Amino acid sequence: MTITFFGHSVIQIETNGTTLLVDPFVTGNGLAEGVVSADDLNPDVILLTHAHGDHWGDTPAIAERTGALVVANFEITSYLGRVHSYENTHPMNTGGSWTFDWGRVTQTYARHSSSFPDGTYGGNPNGYLLRLEGKCLYLAGDTCAFSEMSCLADDKGIDVAFLPIGDDFTMGSEEAVECVEVLKPRLTVPIHYNTFPYIEVDVSRFTNAMDAAGYEARVLAPGETMEV
Ligand code: NI
Ligand code: MN
Repeated sequence: MTITFFGHSVIQIETNGTTLLVDPFVTGNGLAEGVVSADDLNPDVILLTHAHGDHWGDTPAIAERTGALVVANFEITSYLGRVHSYENTHPMNTGGSWTFDWGRVTQTYARHSSSFPDGTYGGNPNGYLLRLEGKCLYLAGDTCAFSEMSCLADDKGIDVAFLPIGDDFTMGSEEAVECVEVLKPRLTVPIHYNTFPYIEVDVSRFTNAMDAAGYEARVLAPGETMEV
């Protein structure tokens, strides 16, 4: 599968002929500026971790233009129906899984908050475990470290973990390395940093700590693609 990072938490995954787009905050995302615009993205599926504006982002515009299936918690899919009259949605909630024809999705717990830009309650925030092409991806969403992370991986383990490192709103670099110690992914990609002043960090602090602990990290520049 092909994974493209567009800065912040925007991740595109092309798998089995299906394009998944996670947390499509493109308009107003300075890291995506000059790299991609919301109109360039043509997902079949949009996955949302929570309703905060820096994740919800361009969801209504992209969904209405492409007709993409929006996978999110019940409060978010209900909001899309109620406020945007958008019905091509699949509601989930923490701990639940669903097998789509392109892969299996589990909504995981995330310790954070969730409200829409207009203040509407957005339900509980989530992460995702995605089982695609025999691989397992973990998208932590916005969260701090939590001890239940140790229960997430099945016996085959996590191939790639996407962890926030920006601090202030989520875990920072040190906590992300502690999560890696628990999750033991084969590769970790840092996300949710350097988008706003509150989450400006020196990413080398994370990569150096990962190196020192003997774990593999890969920093993706906005627009950069990797094969998994
Ligand atoms: Ni958030
Ligand atoms: Mn966020």
